[in-house]
Amino acid sequence: MYKFAWMKPAFGRAAGLFGAWARLGMAVMVGAVALPGPQAHAQTEPEAPQRISCAAVSAATCTVAKSLKRGVNFGGMLEAPKEGQWGATVMPAYMDVAGAHFQTVRLPVRWSNHAAVTEDGLIDEVFARRVDFIVDTLLMKGLYVILDFHHHTQMVGSKLHTGEYAVEERLLEKRFLNMWRQIEGRYRYRSPKLIFEILNEPYGKQTPARWNALAAKVVSIIRVHNPQRTVIVGVPYIGLSAAYDELVMPNDPHLIMGAHSYDPFDFTHQWVPNAVTCCSPDQRAQMVANLDKMAAWSVRTGYPVHLGEFGAIENAPLDARAAYARIMRDGAEARGMGWAYWDFVTTFAVYPKAANNWLEPIRAALLD
Ligand code: GLC
Repeated sequence: MYKFAWMKPAFGRAAGLFGAWARLGMAVMVGAVALPGPQAHAQTEPEAPQRISCAAVSAATCTVAKSLKRGVNFGGMLEAPKEGQWGATVMPAYMDVAGAHFQTVRLPVRWSNHAAVTEDGLIDEVFARRVDFIVDTLLMKGLYVILDFHHHTQMVGSKLHTGEYAVEERLLEKRFLNMWRQIEGRYRYRSPKLIFEILNEPYGKQTPARWNALAAKVVSIIRVHNPQRTVIVGVPYIGLSAAYDELVMPNDPHLIMGAHSYDPFDFTHQWVPNAVTCCSPDQRAQMVANLDKMAAWSVRTGYPVHLGEFGAIENAPLDARAAYARIMRDGAEARGMGWAYWDFVTTFAVYPKAANNWLEPIRAALLD
C-alpha cells in the first residue's frame, strides 16, 4: 500500500506524492534541508557565475551538453505504469509544440512495467515501437531527446505504484541490465542527438556505493553498440546537491551529470495548497546556491551538468511559479547549463493539458 494512498483521489497521483516525500526524506537524511536561523541572509547573485566545464569529456559530448539548451519533460505520459493511466498521452501536437519552441525533450519512460518479469526482462515490442515512434518524431523535428529510464520503484526500494507489477527481488539488477542491453541495441543507429539517461533519481536502495557501481555497469553495457553516445548519470539521493560529492562518474568521456533542483521544496511541492510563494531573497539564494554547486562540481570534475528537472506545482500561485521558473532558467543559462522544465502538460505544466495551450506567464519565464 502507498503510505499516502489516502490522498490520491483528492490530490492526484500517489506516485508524484511518494517521490516528493521520498525526496524530502532524503534531504533530511543528507542534511540538505536548510533550517531558517539567525544566519539566514540574502545573497546577491555574482555577476559572472562559474560556468560548467567539459575538461573530462569528448568534444562531441561537450557539444551535446552545450546544445541541450532549453528543454521540457514529457512527464506523466510514458512515465505512468501504462501510458494514459495518469491522464496524459504523448499527442502529436505536443511534439509539434516542443519542436517549435525547445531544443530538448526529456522523455521519462517506465520500461520496467513493459518488460517480462523474468531475468531476461524482454521488452514488449508493441510498447517499444510506441517509444520508437515518439523518439523518431522528436528527432526528426531536430530536437535532442533524453531517453530517461524512469520509475523502476523496486530498484530504489519504494512501494509499487498502482498498476505497476512486481519482479522477484533477486532478479532485479540482472533484469535491469538486460533491459538496458535491449535499449542500447535497439537505438544504436539513432542520431547522436539521442541521449540515454540510466535511471531517474536514484535513491533509497540505490545508496551512493551501489549506484556508482550500477551506473558503471550500465555505461559499459551501453558502450557495446553505442561507443560514443552521450549518457546522463544522475546523482544519488534524488539529485540533491549535498550528494554531488558522493557520485563517482564511470570512467568514460561521453557522460553528462544529471542534476535536479526543487528548492524551495515547500513552494514547488505543495500537493496541498499551502500559500507558500516565491521568491524571497532567501529562497532565491537557496536556488542560486544549488546552481552554483552544480557548476562548481562540474569545474572540479570536468563533466558537464544538465539540469534535468525543476518546476513548481499547479497549486502554487501562478506569478510565483513564473518568478521561480525565470530565476532557474536564467541561472542555468548563466552557468552554460542546459535545462528541462518539469513538466509539459501535467501537474507542473507549462502547457496544461486541459487548456491545451501555454500557461503564458510560465512560457514567457522559460522562453522569452
Ligand atoms: C520526479 C518523479 C515524478 C514527479 C517529479 C516532480 O521526476 O519521478 O513522478 O512528478 O519528480 O516531483
